Amino acid sequence: MPLANDLDKYLSENQQRALNELFDLLRIPSVSARSEHNPDTARAAAWVAESLTKIGFTAAVHATPGHPIVVGEWRGAEKNAPTLLIYGHYDVQPAEPLELWDSPPFEPTIRDGKIFARGSVDDKGQLFLHIKALEAHLATRGKLPVNVVVLAEGEEEVGSENLTAFIEGHKQLLACDGVVISDSAMFAPGLPSILSSLRGMAYFQIDVVGPTTDLHSGSYGGAVMNPAMALARILATMHDANGHVTIDGFYDKVRDWGDKARREIRALPFDETHLREETGAPELFGEKDYSTLERLWMRPTCEVNGLLSGYTGEGAKTVLPSKAMAKVSCRLIPDQTPAEIEGLMRAHVDKVKPRGVTVTVTHLHGGMPWRAELTGPLFDAARRALKAAFDKDPVIVGEGGSIPVVGDFQRILNAPVLLVGFGLPGENAHAPNEWISVDNYQRGAKAMAALWDELAAARS
Ligand code: BES
Ligand code: MN
Ligand code: MN
Repeated sequence: MPLANDLDKYLSENQQRALNELFDLLRIPSVSARSEHNPDTARAAAWVAESLTKIGFTAAVHATPGHPIVVGEWRGAEKNAPTLLIYGHYDVQPAEPLELWDSPPFEPTIRDGKIFARGSVDDKGQLFLHIKALEAHLATRGKLPVNVVVLAEGEEEVGSENLTAFIEGHKQLLACDGVVISDSAMFAPGLPSILSSLRGMAYFQIDVVGPTTDLHSGSYGGAVMNPAMALARILATMHDANGHVTIDGFYDKVRDWGDKARREIRALPFDETHLREETGAPELFGEKDYSTLERLWMRPTCEVNGLLSGYTGEGAKTVLPSKAMAKVSCRLIPDQTPAEIEGLMRAHVDKVKPRGVTVTVTHLHGGMPWRAELTGPLFDAARRALKAAFDKDPVIVGEGGSIPVVGDFQRILNAPVLLVGFGLPGENAHAPNEWISVDNYQRGAKAMAALWDELAAARS
């Protein structure tokens, strides 16, 4: 069915206010990775809680050992109505490098129909469009057709380390018949998309230490192991020339997705050239014998995220560094687990590390991979709601990124998870000039307003 007139009209008439309010949230630099921003993450949490109370929810801010968790509740639906949980995150990635932004990251600006700001698409805009959809119901009808719990966390971008314990400890509060998350992108402009998989994560730091201080590379070079070279050698053993990971046992638990999944992936309107242009890389590269989308969605990876060693300033300095460090993360595919991969990584580094240096592997964070069959009333309702708002049937797609909590929702709350995102390719999430399309922000709110009606209609 089409989006109900009252909701459509309300959301259209209140578009400008919905933008202004989002801008207020985007102005708060809630960077979870940096402790100097702790007052800002706290302020963002309070802001989200207040935006929920303003529309008629009860909301509480729960302190954690890290950043606070916001829970809003509205439980006034008719007897036997289902309860849905909406999850999102109010924390954002650091905005650096600042000089590459065309407008300041925490001063939202609209250009070419796009809202530019850190967090615009990941995930403040996508979290807040849900709140606007809920508002549309409560403002026009005084009620929602389903019970709703909103869970907003402030540590997604740093691995959601305190969220699992919170969910374990609040099973009653968070009990639900389904989870809805908008923290991803559509496959193409105008093409609404539902995710059927996410990769998991196992993140490490590798430290290599040699001499106690930096040394003159002439007086000592050749007589002691160079930690930068040692680290380079360790990293170089992690892949072969075909992009295949060579850590013993790495692929043992990778489930084969089967021909049906591969056919579905091939049927998607995907343009390699487009992706190459989007990345700016001279050519695409990945594991041999797999297509680009297969490499992104159904194969695990091992990537260097950062490297640090020695002299990197202007000109030349002849020095033998005393230490070297790499940040290394693996993206995981069912049934790999972060614990299993950590064990394999430690064993591998132990096996290949050169003599003459001390090498340590430190765990940073981990998250489970996720893949699901999208069947049941929530997914059917989502298909209809997306069609109503975008005038196009949604596609089912995989995703290479990670949302650590998704596996927990499935496991602890035993609830199906609907991942429906409103970002777009090229949105620059985590990068300079992050944006969300104004049109998607508005249509996303309409789709999510329609979702609650569709879900209720399916049950009556
Ligand atoms: N919203 C992203 C997840 C995502 C990434 C969805 C790409 C769709 C496309 C999320 O905020 C994110 O960045 N997750 C991190 C998780 C990590 C810190 C454990 C990621 O994927 O790197
Ligand atoms: Mn996100
Ligand atoms: Mn992110």
